[in-house]
Amino acid sequence: MTMTLERARLREDFLLPETRKQEPFGVFGVYVHWPFCLAKCPYCDFNSHVRHGGIDEGKFLAAYRAELTHFASLAPGRSVSSIFFGGGTPSLMGANTVAAILETIVALWPVAPDAEITLEANPTSVEAKRFAGYRAAGVNRVSLGVQAFDDASLKALGRMHTTQEALAALAIAKRHFERVSFDLIYARQGQALLAWREELNRALGYAHDHLSLYQLTIEEGTPFAARHAAGTLTIPTGTRARAFYRLTQELCDAAGLPAYEVSNHARPGAESRHNLLYWRGDDYAGVGPGAHSRLTSGGIKRALGVRKSPEGWLAAVETVGHGLEQDEALSPQEQADEYLLMGLRLAEGIDVKRLQAIDGRILEEKRLQELEGQGLLRRREDRLQATEAGHLVLDRLILELAA
Ligand SMILES: C[S@@+](CC[C@H](N)C(=O)[O-])C[C@H]1O[C@@H](n2cnc3c(N)ncnc32)[C@H](O)[C@@H]1O
Ligand code: SF4
Repeated sequence: MTMTLERARLREDFLLPETRKQEPFGVFGVYVHWPFCLAKCPYCDFNSHVRHGGIDEGKFLAAYRAELTHFASLAPGRSVSSIFFGGGTPSLMGANTVAAILETIVALWPVAPDAEITLEANPTSVEAKRFAGYRAAGVNRVSLGVQAFDDASLKALGRMHTTQEALAALAIAKRHFERVSFDLIYARQGQALLAWREELNRALGYAHDHLSLYQLTIEEGTPFAARHAAGTLTIPTGTRARAFYRLTQELCDAAGLPAYEVSNHARPGAESRHNLLYWRGDDYAGVGPGAHSRLTSGGIKRALGVRKSPEGWLAAVETVGHGLEQDEALSPQEQADEYLLMGLRLAEGIDVKRLQAIDGRILEEKRLQELEGQGLLRRREDRLQATEAGHLVLDRLILELAA
């Protein structure tokens, strides 16, 4: 326990210097959403679609370039510190398409020489063959959707790869990229705590510098939600779910990959810079079907969103140059709520002075003391951090603080 706390303290120190102080506008990232998958996984509610007849990748590429150009006009004078290709399954994109999108971004904004450029990939053998091309295009980090190191579970999750294939893809990824992460889903139906201990220990043996570990969530409207409602799919809840979470923190801490966010673990210095900018409330431009953006200018932060349907988005971009269907200024209160909601997910927590600067909010001392007394919050100078116990009841904690 002492070891865990010491490590946590080290990480807070590591993360404290905020990049926004070094740049007049703060850090800025570009997100590119590729909305297609080979098959729809039964637990997933991401904006992902299967097109058995294939798609015209050239048309989509032209639309990405056009929408990026539109966003450059909305976010002038920014420098890009990270780029993230997410999905859907971006590893279905040809390497030439990825290269052309990166060239477009470089032509529109200055891109930092050490920019983090991540691509999410599914670990099938077909996709692993594209890794060399992605590296040549400029991608320097991959995030693989391994999900489980157990073939029966992969099948139950509707995945298209086996454990063997995932391990082969991981080995290829490590050969091509400086930075490699992979995702696992745990607290799955029928999974025993002991089995997760073994699986996670195995995973930690393969981990490079980053791991995303998600507890299975039942998302509304998915086949898993229907099975859950019918009682044919059950997942751990309450004390059992907490035991899975605690075990995950314990094993990752011991392996030198502590959590820097509720579900994300990294060796110090290997945190996903792109994802950090969402949680720290920095700006980003998101292009592609269903992507969201946060852009600040003249002291006003705007929330933007584009059409979700791939074909609807394509048609809109071909007609007016972008797929925007939402563009609203966030009130100071909305911004402060968002900062609380995202920032408390991070081990480094939030800066109360920044919160105050956003909407004048001063958190009530009595309430803070109560939450500290309950072991859910801790204070480190100007920072407020959720403890491990706090992360387990984060929704409640945020509601209490936002009240
Ligand atoms: C955009 S998705 C995946 C990218 C890629 N298409 C893949 O499946 O590997 C990002 C991650 O979210 C996680 N995820 C998606 N739905 C989830 C759910 N219902 N519960 C827990 N984790 C989920 C998975 O681990 C997944 O890898
Ligand atoms: S989990 Fe990944 S592969 Fe599966 S449907 Fe969602 S985005 Fe597609």
